[in-house]
Amino acid sequence: MDRKQFLSEMGLGAAGLFVISCLGSCSKSGSTPVASSDFTIDLNAASSLALKSLGGYIYTNGIIVAQTLAGKYIAVSQACTHEGVTVTYDSTGDRFYCPAHGSVFNDSGVVVNGPANSNLREFNTMLTGSSLRVYA
Ligand code: FES
Repeated sequence: MDRKQFLSEMGLGAAGLFVISCLGSCSKSGSTPVASSDFTIDLNAASSLALKSLGGYIYTNGIIVAQTLAGKYIAVSQACTHEGVTVTYDSTGDRFYCPAHGSVFNDSGVVVNGPANSNLREFNTMLTGSSLRVYA
């Protein structure tokens, strides 16, 4: 049995597979899907050292994780909801900014300025010692 025949017998075409692979993570084609919505970051690891600084941020698992200037950890999906470009964190404004067309999102991922018209997905954070859990 080849792949096409298998999918046909399972009642799934290419469109069905696309829907399954994007459930809950893709808002537009070209956006970066969130790979995992429950993981822990070791703040002592070299890859996450930026998070030990006020205003620092990193990208991991399709999520941008930042420490605000007030010392709070925040996390939202990194793909802009307009056309999927990766957003950055602006610590002085405590907001996320998309360099492509200028959309701005607050620290919870809510659209402040378009052209994006839907919010970034917000994730919870919980700090335990030097471990930062990010979860839905
Ligand atoms: S892709 Fe972000 S504003 Fe257009």
